[in-house]
Amino acid sequence: MKDAAPRPILLSEYRAPDWRVEALELDFDLDPDATRVQSRLRVRRTAEAAPDAPLRLHGRDLERLRLEVNGVAPAGEALVEDAEGLLLHGLPDAAEIVIETRVHPAANTALEGLYASGGNLCTQCEPEGFRRITYFPDRPDVLTRYTVRLEADAARYPVLLANGNRVAAGALAGGRHYAVWEDPFPKPSYLFALVAGDLACRSQRFVTRSGREVALEVYVEHHNQDRCDHALASLARAMRYDEEAFGREYDLDVYMIVAVDDFNMGAMENKGLNLFNAKYVLASPDSATDDDYVHIESVIAHEYFHNWSGNRVTCRDWFQLSLKEGLTVFRDQEFTTDCTLFGVKRIDDVQRLRAFQFPEDAGPLAHPVRPDRYTEINNFYTLTVYEKGAEVIRMLRTLIGREAFRQGLDLYFERFDGQAVTTDDFVAVMAEAAGRDLSLFQRWYRQAGTPRVRARSAFDAAAGELRIDLHQHTPPTPGEADKQPLHIPLRMALLGGDGAALSGRLGAAPEAREWVLELTGAEQSFRLTGLREAPVAISWLRGFSAPVLLDAGQDATELAYIATFDDDAFTRWDAMQELLRRAVIARVQGAGDTSQDDPGQRADTGQSHTGQSHTGQSHTGQSHTGERHTDEGHTEPADPAQGGYGQRSTDTTGTGQADTALETLIREAMAALLQNTVEPVVLATLLELPAHRELLEAFEHADPVAVYAARQAVERAVFGPLADSLLQQQAALAGVDDGAFTATAMGSRRLLNRILALRVALEAPGAVVDAARQYQQARSQTLRMGALEALNDADTRQRTELLAEFEQHNRNDALVLDKWFGLEAGSQIPGGLERLERLLEHPGFRWSNPNRVRAVLGPFMAHNHRHFHQADGAGYQQIAGYLERLDALNPQTAAALARPLTRWRRLDPVRSARMREALERLAARDGLSRDLADVIQRALADS
Ligand code: PHE
Ligand code: ZN
Repeated sequence: MKDAAPRPILLSEYRAPDWRVEALELDFDLDPDATRVQSRLRVRRTAEAAPDAPLRLHGRDLERLRLEVNGVAPAGEALVEDAEGLLLHGLPDAAEIVIETRVHPAANTALEGLYASGGNLCTQCEPEGFRRITYFPDRPDVLTRYTVRLEADAARYPVLLANGNRVAAGALAGGRHYAVWEDPFPKPSYLFALVAGDLACRSQRFVTRSGREVALEVYVEHHNQDRCDHALASLARAMRYDEEAFGREYDLDVYMIVAVDDFNMGAMENKGLNLFNAKYVLASPDSATDDDYVHIESVIAHEYFHNWSGNRVTCRDWFQLSLKEGLTVFRDQEFTTDCTLFGVKRIDDVQRLRAFQFPEDAGPLAHPVRPDRYTEINNFYTLTVYEKGAEVIRMLRTLIGREAFRQGLDLYFERFDGQAVTTDDFVAVMAEAAGRDLSLFQRWYRQAGTPRVRARSAFDAAAGELRIDLHQHTPPTPGEADKQPLHIPLRMALLGGDGAALSGRLGAAPEAREWVLELTGAEQSFRLTGLREAPVAISWLRGFSAPVLLDAGQDATELAYIATFDDDAFTRWDAMQELLRRAVIARVQGAGDTSQDDPGQRADTGQSHTGQSHTGQSHTGQSHTGERHTDEGHTEPADPAQGGYGQRSTDTTGTGQADTALETLIREAMAALLQNTVEPVVLATLLELPAHRELLEAFEHADPVAVYAARQAVERAVFGPLADSLLQQQAALAGVDDGAFTATAMGSRRLLNRILALRVALEAPGAVVDAARQYQQARSQTLRMGALEALNDADTRQRTELLAEFEQHNRNDALVLDKWFGLEAGSQIPGGLERLERLLEHPGFRWSNPNRVRAVLGPFMAHNHRHFHQADGAGYQQIAGYLERLDALNPQTAAALARPLTRWRRLDPVRSARMREALERLAARDGLSRDLADVIQRALADS
């Protein structure tokens, strides 16, 4: 049953719970068709509550078999049933409540609450799934101790798991058995979990730094037993890292991870019993790519880190979601940076932020890191809450310094252990540790939108001084017309004639080679003194020190200098991205501006992020689909979103004239990089063009097909003449298929795949044959997929044959078959809409499996520009039809996948109207879920 027009939940209406739950006993009689749940809660009215305050028990789609208060069924006015569940009136100050419900796991396709996946039973409770299991105060600020008894058929479900430690188990009559689990740590209901199944267990021991032994256990289907090593090793690495980098130790005797085939998100941090989307657990060189390995490691780490940032200290209410998610993403980013990817991690993260979060923050679904209202909380597991939330934490560290930050974190975990708190509490602790007033900084949590920062500078040679003028401005977002200035840390350096950083002083601080400018007002000036030479280039926003759109007015020569010499990997990459972005924009506009030599002041071709010119016209843009977060929330962003720059209002009907001078300059810089001894992994990132979805953001109204064509044209113009040196590089990389999971080895494979894809795109002689050979000879999935991806838009015999081979070979391997579905759906070769239809008729396609559905719809919307954005709107209509169908089964996944359709305002007039029609048609349907209806309503709303 679907909900009708619900009212929004407001942060301002938060009230502390009137009742505490002192203990909870749950008893499950498990059966896929009908499971009986008995719940026994001891409740006590709080001292602050009104004497007649009723007890709210949430419940959804429950069959109630029994309800007793102190042994008596409440009658008459004592029991009120409403849309949220039950209200118990007239209770004594303390009571024991017994509730029996019946639920139907096999029929639960929403995958929230208790459901069946494969032959197993499992739960997903965050954020509000527990109320689909039993009546309970299902809110994160009600914490209690759980004792859970599970009973099931012993043959069908030999493994019975719940949170905490197993305290009893045994056989029962009739082929049944039971297990009792006790979790010593009080927790909110969203962290409850159980699993019943026929699963293999791979395990390893871990000794914590204080000498406690912990069993690490990974549970998977029997045939996947040989794909768990990487997950186990990742878990042990994450546990060690949390001890060393954050001083956090594990607290139970066992840590369990269960891989589940049907899962809405990436993974879930239930106390001691993580549930994982199987794609973030299972890996072998033969099945998983390097990217898969890295994602698995980071999701495992993310969920592990939640044990402190999320579980020991949890959220007071769901507006505070970023308290745990932003902090935990920050922690997992640090882990991957220090242990696996080093400098490239920051580049990957920023790329993702720009491609997905910036568009979200510029579109109809924009919201603050700490939202103050929601209609459906499921729709707030966003890039903003997760990734921008992590950026906010990172900025805090930049502002107060590593040492104070670490002290603040220690204080946070110590002071709030066992409590449910707010982002204000977090910032207050940091302010205390740093001895600084951070009240201005709080605006990052409260205000949506990506700030534009404009930076200009003037060097006074006689005085040895650089004057810097900064200006900030945040365009309006829905419901928030007026924006206030934010506290922005801008890390910068000056590069001298030999490429090295110059030293100088900022204010009274000692001489340094890098400075953090703290911009707090709308406009502010700074002075760097004691400079012995004129800077040749300014390295702005080093390490991407703040999630802003920067307009530094740099000319192409200065950017090329940075791309060649900067020692900050991010800034270096970013300079090259900016050059390429300008070249694509020039092609789209047909402007052909060539004013490279005009430093600073160009309102023209280049710089997209002009802080000031923003008209604040329309907000749209898009965001990720899928799991977080989809995706790092873990799943990957399966969808098209774009990144966000400025607002050029332009008609983008074709690929205009090239800015040949700019393209030549980029080509020369690339040629030098290819000859140089740049590390392969760095080179691989430098050879990437800005993502299509990020480029779209540069236009007020974009024709996605034209932007795609312009991007291709720039790629050809820049790299076409470099085909020979690309080939040389490719040859030099033979032998990288060695299976090593190191940054160097993975970087080399990434470079090899990038070069192969470039050569195929350039139609370089022999490239298609090389790709086919790479596929045939590959020992790793990384090179196999690299070859298929390179060929995927090339309408060739090789593509047809290899994809067919790949499908046949992997028909029974769900995770690998998902890759095949994604390739077919994302391919721009002719006939995309028919191919999409046929994919849904493939015997392996299942509407009930989120991974499979995402594997098809995600890449179609993200990569298949030609067909998704077909000018007649057929692509939009087809997707809308699928979403309606999916929504009837799985609202959360449908709502996530609908996000690409919300960017209609930012498309060219024809497509804009077509996409809007598709949305409106969907909006007119009866019985849409609250999840999907909420996304569509916000997408169509006036502001
Ligand atoms: N809390 C999970 C994470 O970030 C994400 C999640 C949310 C999973 C909701 C399931 C449901 O790791
Ligand atoms: Zn998380």
